[in-house]
Amino acid sequence: MTTTIATKPIAGQKPGTSGLRKKTAQFMQPGYLENFVQSIWDGIGGVIGKTLVLGGDGRFFNDRAAQIILRMAAASGAAKVIVGQNALLSTPAASHLIRLRGADGGIIMSASHNPGGPDEDFGVKYNTANGGPAPESVTNRIFAATESITQYLTLEADDIDLSALGTHQLGAMAVEVVDPVTDYQALMETLFDFDAIRALIAGGFQLRFDAMHAVTGPYAVAILETTLGAAPGSVVNAVPLPDFGKGHPDPNPVWARDLMDTMFGTAAPDFGAASDGDGDRNMIVGRGVYVTPSDSLAVLAANAHLAPGYAGGLKGVARSMPTSCAVDLVAEAKGIKSYATPTGWKFFGNLLDAGLATLCGEESAGTGSDHVREKDGLWAVLLWLNILAARRQSVAEVMHDHWAEYGRVYYSRHDYEAIDSDIANTLIADLRGRLDTLPGTAAGALTVSKAADFAYDDPVDGSLTEKQGIEITFEGGARLVLRLSGTGTEGATLRVYLERLEVQRDQMDQDAQAALAPVVTAAEALAEIRTRTGRTAPDVMT
Ligand code: G6P
Ligand code: ZN
Repeated sequence: MTTTIATKPIAGQKPGTSGLRKKTAQFMQPGYLENFVQSIWDGIGGVIGKTLVLGGDGRFFNDRAAQIILRMAAASGAAKVIVGQNALLSTPAASHLIRLRGADGGIIMSASHNPGGPDEDFGVKYNTANGGPAPESVTNRIFAATESITQYLTLEADDIDLSALGTHQLGAMAVEVVDPVTDYQALMETLFDFDAIRALIAGGFQLRFDAMHAVTGPYAVAILETTLGAAPGSVVNAVPLPDFGKGHPDPNPVWARDLMDTMFGTAAPDFGAASDGDGDRNMIVGRGVYVTPSDSLAVLAANAHLAPGYAGGLKGVARSMPTSCAVDLVAEAKGIKSYATPTGWKFFGNLLDAGLATLCGEESAGTGSDHVREKDGLWAVLLWLNILAARRQSVAEVMHDHWAEYGRVYYSRHDYEAIDSDIANTLIADLRGRLDTLPGTAAGALTVSKAADFAYDDPVDGSLTEKQGIEITFEGGARLVLRLSGTGTEGATLRVYLERLEVQRDQMDQDAQAALAPVVTAAEALAEIRTRTGRTAPDVMT
């Protein structure tokens, strides 16, 4: 039976870089999730007769939230919801399922790489029929609906057994429970030379994949171990847990410390990788060599043609503006275009849909292609494995060859987390106010050549997105970007992105932080980060 529940707008339900993310306890407050879900339905013009995909990364409240969303979809007239078994779907697998099944859209329950648990984070994101995160025109309508909501619809019904594959009935709506891995794996098999990777592994190549107790565990075990023959146990932390084993499921050198230690230790395997809470991010490490996400994007762009799915070459590439310019150098050499977009995977959707770009990537450990409309952690791992199998080289050899050919862009991101929002906003606003005066002036030992507030003119739909970060370029090829994170849930996070191009062959093996010291000094001179925030050092350096 459908019931109508009166409600009132709840402040702060504005979707950020990637959906609505809040503390789990906030999401669990009566009406909080319900208000947002009803606002999604209202923002997309209702769900009558529609087919949706639903899944999440398995974090705490994922299972309960799935039942609430199913009842609300049924109450509002959806025809069908396709759900991953146990309400699990990695973000790229959800994107694929939306496209494969021609669904009208989907809901992904995840706060990505943020920790999970009753005291940690939860999130809900809506993806459109192309499989990608809803563009701002849609999220703005959803937000507007949260501000005027007066009621939501739900159904009085028992929970659906989401562990049972097959079709269930919820009121008049069908709930189809599917294996979360099968369709995704089939897609991967069309893109990559599984035989070549299998032969590489059979020849003694060892790998370690850290699923960080998050959603990629079942995917990685099925693909890397069962199908490609990696030794059992090559996938570690493979069972998704509601609190990710109390870890921080973010694949970077800080949070994937164990993997880094293994890869830099004496018994290191040939290849190491990790993925995040919902399976869209990736980290790549070779024996004794960490590959920055920006470099990974560049290497993948340079070598993608070695995989069957990309044998015809790339139509173009795209990176978020704070991602290093390494991929631009590859694009230039290949005579294809490299687009710079604002941070947030959703900005790649139009370029991919319009066939302007094939590969995309972000410094925040996201890489992907036009095979889905999300970034894809395991896809990046498989493309790397395919490249290593084809080139018959180690990760370190691939990197050195790459730098020798294109130059090395030293890169690092410094994060100042949970700082006072007013201080962060003022820091950015003050710098913004001075941009016109900066070109030609000195900042430490560097000289500013360009300073701009990044705005993106979407070449496909003509939409303009402004104030996406401050980009300062220095004479000699160094660059500094400052922006505030759109995904944090506490105070503000200031991100400072630093890069410097090095072309001298004998300078390719410096420590990144040392190589970037002049840019760090310039950043402090220009933005007074330490003085204003009272912090002596960043919280995280990646
Ligand atoms: C999410 C988005 C990415 C984005 C990242 C960092 O993972 O999907 O596209 O790059 O967040 O966002 P932030 O605003 O925290 O820098
Ligand atoms: Zn993620």
